[in-house]
Amino acid sequence: MWSSAGAVARCVGNDRVMAEGAAQDSEGRRVLIVGLGPGDPGLLTERAKQELAAFDVLFSVTRASDGPDLSALLGELVDHARGGSDYRTVELVDPPLEWNIKGDRGSTAEWRKARADLWEAAILEHLGAGQTGVWVIWGDPSIYESTLLVIQDILARGNASFDYEVIPGVSSAHTLAARHKIPLNHIGGPVRFTPGKALQAEMPIGADDVVVMLDDDAAFMQLDPADQISIYWGAYLGLPDEILISGQLDQVRDEIAARRAEARERKGWIVDTYLLRRFV
Ligand SMILES: C[S@@+](CC[C@H](N)C(=O)[O-])C[C@H]1O[C@@H](n2cnc3c(N)ncnc32)[C@H](O)[C@@H]1O
Repeated sequence: MWSSAGAVARCVGNDRVMAEGAAQDSEGRRVLIVGLGPGDPGLLTERAKQELAAFDVLFSVTRASDGPDLSALLGELVDHARGGSDYRTVELVDPPLEWNIKGDRGSTAEWRKARADLWEAAILEHLGAGQTGVWVIWGDPSIYESTLLVIQDILARGNASFDYEVIPGVSSAHTLAARHKIPLNHIGGPVRFTPGKALQAEMPIGADDVVVMLDDDAAFMQLDPADQISIYWGAYLGLPDEILISGQLDQVRDEIAARRAEARERKGWIVDTYLLRRFV
């Protein structure tokens, strides 16, 4: 169990004063950014399991505001890979994020800076010479994830010094494709990834295959029903409550919206991803 892990430290702010350019040698400190897949222990990679069996400190990020807090589920995956041996946890409480993808990106930059302040202080305080600290990521670290960028921001400041590595994981997009038994692209065609907030009332021009994530508001309901589009939708992919629905958008979207609302109400949170595919 997550709670059976060893000592837990909690970081919610950074009032530490750091000397510019103080860090020199990494002294064997390692930071690993490990993709854990969509939640199914069977979709953890062998490499992720190896690294999780041997690290010293887990830097666990918990969300302060909107969206589901998946840190407890991530912790269960870590414990599964760890096989019962103890480790230290440093809890990092995320600063609130007010994100408007169509407008001001300044708030995202400030959020990233606040994260870097907090994480930098945590590394300086909790990661000793010769130790390995891990950040665990839902899915794969390269898709809609700022962890890698924040780690790079910290290194660029020069206050903390460490080597870092990224361990890929199975993305929810790949799990979606596998569950529906489809390729993500038309033969030889591009695939676009977008957050729900950036989806307009029509399919993006020139895009035949669009993977939508981070969609709090069921953006697929806004698309023009006259558009010739199929949807492949998956919620809680790789988890026991997984739901899959596919079909012509105008025929299945009400059913998806209803199942989505019901599941969110029952569980208190939802993660869902879908592919929109234009008929060609
Ligand atoms: C911050 S993004 C991270 C994506 C992640 N890095 C990945 O590779 O899947 C979070 C979004 O991923 C999608 N997602 C993550 N896990 C999921 C799951 N188990 N089932 C369905 N969608 C999931 C949802 O769209 C969610 O809003």
